[in-house]
Amino acid sequence: MSGSPLIPPSPSEETYSASADQGEVFTKDDPFHQFAEWLALAGKSEPNDPNAMALATVDADGLPDLRMVLLKDIDAGGLTFYTNTESAKGEQLALNPKAAICFHWKTIRRQVRFRGGVEPVSDAEADAYFATRARSARIGAWASAQSRPLESRFALEKQIAAKAAHFGIKEVTRPPYWSGYRLVPTQIEFWVNRPFRLHDRLVFTRDRVGAQWKTERLYP
Ligand SMILES: Cc1cc2nc3c(=O)[nH]c(=O)nc-3n(C[C@H](O)[C@H](O)[C@H](O)COP(=O)(O)O)c2cc1C
Repeated sequence: MSGSPLIPPSPSEETYSASADQGEVFTKDDPFHQFAEWLALAGKSEPNDPNAMALATVDADGLPDLRMVLLKDIDAGGLTFYTNTESAKGEQLALNPKAAICFHWKTIRRQVRFRGGVEPVSDAEADAYFATRARSARIGAWASAQSRPLESRFALEKQIAAKAAHFGIKEVTRPPYWSGYRLVPTQIEFWVNRPFRLHDRLVFTRDRVGAQWKTERLYP
């Protein structure tokens, strides 16, 4: 039972714990392979967006900021997401190109955290991804001054209509302020729920990109 009437009750500890032991889940030596395995598993049970992740950045005053974005690519280089580079997150990353990312999949009771530096993707990579988006989403990227004040919903709809008219039947190219970032992790932590809150944590760290990963278990 939670202490606050505002927080919905969880199943009792006994029911929860009995169903919670998942056996050995740290099966890979390479953290990217491990992540890929967990993401694929989450994809089978999450109701939507298993690739949704919380992205934390810090502003000029050192105050953390946090929002969800979608993972669009992952390789040994890092995790790629796309956004408006003039948004709050874009400005924060320009000032301090470091971030943290957290995935939490409720259906499999697992969490993965990443920390590291952030670099822009190449124009060619951003163009290639932008071209895969639906036309209306590409027009939306032109119409939205993401994170800046919007006087009304109607003002956005006018912008969308204006951009749609501007492009007509022409190809909708990528706006110069819309692109991707890649978080290149130096730390990746895997967490899995275990009975009685005795969860398992495995952390991979490397001193710099390209160096060997070291692993360590942490107390829950
Ligand atoms: C599930 C989910 C996925 C999202 N994916 C993205 C995304 O990939 N890119 C993006 O710019 N915003 C995405 N958003 C919206 C962001 O959370 C956020 O509202 C927006 O990027 C502005 O953030 P900022 O003002 O901190 O820059 C997503 C929101 C949710 C809830």
